[in-house]
Amino acid sequence: MKITILRYDELESTNVEAMNQAKRGADEGLCVVARRQTKGRGRHGRVWISEKDAGLYFSIVLRPRIENKFLPLITFAAAIAVYETLAAFGIKSDIKWANDVHVNNKKISGILAETGDTPKGLAVIVGIGINLKSSNFPAEIGAIATSIEQEIAANSGASFNADAIIEKLTANFSAAYEILTSEDGAEKIRRMWTERSSYAKGKSVRVALGTESICGVTDGIEENGALRVISENSETKIVHAGDVERLRRI
Ligand code: BTN
Repeated sequence: MKITILRYDELESTNVEAMNQAKRGADEGLCVVARRQTKGRGRHGRVWISEKDAGLYFSIVLRPRIENKFLPLITFAAAIAVYETLAAFGIKSDIKWANDVHVNNKKISGILAETGDTPKGLAVIVGIGINLKSSNFPAEIGAIATSIEQEIAANSGASFNADAIIEKLTANFSAAYEILTSEDGAEKIRRMWTERSSYAKGKSVRVALGTESICGVTDGIEENGALRVISENSETKIVHAGDVERLRRI
């Protein structure tokens, strides 16, 4: 995939800009990066706090030629790319179903994929936020989130800069996306994801599904990336969306 990067000082949201570019005909591989977002979007309509240079705010335009049922696996490819990018900077992470990346149970990255119709067909925008610095996290976020700066300081002390991260991230994402769109790619991506996620099997979780909440143990992923959870009364539940929370064993 040919990667082209557009850089902005400030945007409402890199996902919104990438979608606008896709509607104007941008090719697959166009990436939008901003130093700050004024209306950064998280999943489930949440806000993604996006202070200047405190995070990497990145979105890529895709025009996938894969079966619709496999579209959710694009976020798996993105999570694998983030995992490998962190590994390149000496940071060991864990993918939390479906597409958060954690270090020692603290969130370091979130992924938001959005689809839209464009004159050139369906476009998927994959937005990736990676925390670069924790120094100005609000107190309530500091307890549940971490950053590359914090993890590097705690480990190797290696130097990093946003451009080096973007370079690794785009290379890792291109590689994972190429696998996904090749023969038997869905199966390969599910396997790669499973190898990098402690949530794939045998994890005690609580899943909030709308007004319902179930507790159980994870039991692998379905063909389309949905999570299988064996509930406390031994029923198999298939979780397509919804929040998964780790349960500590007591
Ligand atoms: C989440 O975990 O809730 C997903 C967060 C996704 C944040 C990124 S930052 C770059 C891109 N632009 C946005 O507005 N959101 C995504």
